[in-house]
Amino acid sequence: MRILLTGAAGFIGTHIAAQARERGHDVVALDAFLPQAHGPGPYPDGFERLDIRHDSLDAVLRDIDVVCHQAAMVGNGVDAQDLPDYAEHNDAGTAHLLAAMARAGIADLVLASSMVVYGDGRYTCPRDGDVPPAVRHEDDLEVGRFDPRCPVCGGDITWREIAEDTPFLPRTSYAASKVAQEHYASAWCTLEGARTVALRYHNVYGPGMPADTPYAGVAAIFRSAIARGEAPKVFEDGQQMRDFVHVSDVARANVAAIERVGKHPTGLTPYNIASGHPFTIGQMAATLAEAAGGGAPVLTGDYRRFDVRHVVASPRAAAEGLGFTASVRPEEGLSALATDPLRTR
Ligand code: UD1
Repeated sequence: MRILLTGAAGFIGTHIAAQARERGHDVVALDAFLPQAHGPGPYPDGFERLDIRHDSLDAVLRDIDVVCHQAAMVGNGVDAQDLPDYAEHNDAGTAHLLAAMARAGIADLVLASSMVVYGDGRYTCPRDGDVPPAVRHEDDLEVGRFDPRCPVCGGDITWREIAEDTPFLPRTSYAASKVAQEHYASAWCTLEGARTVALRYHNVYGPGMPADTPYAGVAAIFRSAIARGEAPKVFEDGQQMRDFVHVSDVARANVAAIERVGKHPTGLTPYNIASGHPFTIGQMAATLAEAAGGGAPVLTGDYRRFDVRHVVASPRAAAEGLGFTASVRPEEGLSALATDPLRTR
């Protein structure tokens, strides 16, 4: 297949390009090489250097079978001043790409989405059943009660795995932009009779992940601390539940989606992309620190008010619809992360 891959020089895009080429696909690698993500240059050869927000895509879309759209501004956002950047890069960028695909008559898209579309996740209340959690109160957090309460009765609730039909609950600028991307892609599917497979990534980690920045997730933050000879600082009580999925598995899920999107019905089909082995932040810090042979993680008891407490995706739909099951267990991949190279620019 001939694939247009956006964000091809990024952390996940680099792994997708390599795996797709290994499978015999022809990859047109597009990247804007924005200085904030890639430094001032010089930049490597072998890429189409285009910005999907402004540049014409008509020439690069010629003879393309599938577009795999990874280009995005990531992280959770630092403050409200980020909102226009997320909207421009992620949403206006996607809208321009979709319009160009319609002109080129391309009807198959693989879209990088995220678990953040589910916000605070889903819980079970013994009294009120399946509920989204109430927003955590400062009074609770201050006394070390980190688990959210039932929004109806205020009692204790327990987290449950999230399936793809869970309602959207975006809580950050980034999350809002990912929900909007999915909505734009759905609208394009309706207008064009097209197909989108949206891959909702859980916490991605692995070789080549960017070093610590204000937009980095916890794996990059801990890995960068280790590189500086510092112990990872674990917030709350370390019991926050996540799913750490290795970048090689995320790339494999993308290649599976590229090869199968054409067999999907018209419209947008979402899949959670997760390892299927939930891990706490405390376990993750301990695994990394032990592999690095450095100091044990420090439990700080600090908290960030807007952090999600527990979110765990069900990997079942991706197994059924894409034949994708992750192969790297978090114990193994997170130990390797202690010495995996980071990208500094
Ligand atoms: C992360 C990504 C988000 C991505 C999502 C996929 C960022 C900032 N967030 O969200 O973009 O879509 O995964 O599921 O890239 N923590 C510490 N110590 C620290 C930093 C964080 O203990 O130094 C804890 C936080 O309190 C939180 C957990 O680690 O409980 C995860 O934090 P983080 O990686 O920032 O955000 P996610 O919600 O997992």
